[in-house]
Amino acid sequence: MNWNELFKDKENRWLKPAPLVLDSIELFKNKEVQHILDLGCGCGRNIIPYLETGFTVSACDISEVAIDAAKSYVLEVCNTNDVSFEKCCMTQLLFKDNSFEAVVSISVINHGLKNDVLKAISEIYRVLKFGGFLLLTVISKEHVTYGSGQLVEEDTFITDKGIDAGIPHHFMDESMLENYLTQSGFYIEVMKKCGIKEIGGINNGHLYVLARKTS
Ligand SMILES: C[S@@+](CC[C@H](N)C(=O)[O-])C[C@H]1O[C@@H](n2cnc3c(N)ncnc32)[C@H](O)[C@@H]1O
Repeated sequence: MNWNELFKDKENRWLKPAPLVLDSIELFKNKEVQHILDLGCGCGRNIIPYLETGFTVSACDISEVAIDAAKSYVLEVCNTNDVSFEKCCMTQLLFKDNSFEAVVSISVINHGLKNDVLKAISEIYRVLKFGGFLLLTVISKEHVTYGSGQLVEEDTFITDKGIDAGIPHHFMDESMLENYLTQSGFYIEVMKKCGIKEIGGINNGHLYVLARKTS
């Protein structure tokens, strides 16, 4: 399975916004965030609440099927084409340096090897403005699937079951994620365990981070 195949089946499209995205709206408003990048936007569920509350949103994903689905969903719900979409990999973002006051990335950057995760974090840092926010969730070592599938490097497994079979997952704990973020120059404001709202309920075993580009 790859992301295009996964999203071709409409049953696999997450359409309700993540509650932690809804919770970020007030903070982003208070901090005068204007332009948000949804990195790994999937089928667009998290773009909608930001658009509806007046933010400018850009979005990217490695899957063209996801991007097409997100464009249609945004048009259907918000009646606008006013989102700039790019098909690109998290390791090579097609956005200029210092473009956004916030990058939001829900359950995305852990889909790769450790080096991909590190490159994605440095790309996020590059495209953020100074003082900009990173709202991130990643899969943690406490996730029920940790250790299952094919071990491809330390803490990284290619899942062999479920809808994301064949997709690599790099599992992190708090200290790994803290190291990855701080070595790229991020200051971590909040890090905590969280669950992600998906089809079928809450998927526990994730980490939530709110960090800032401060240096
Ligand atoms: C679990 S889904 C989450 C989608 C969305 N963030 C949400 O909360 O609904 C992971 C998303 O990451 C995207 N993705 C996976 N690897 C990627 C990469 N290397 N670069 C950019 N996007 C990637 C997938 O195509 C998919 O849309």
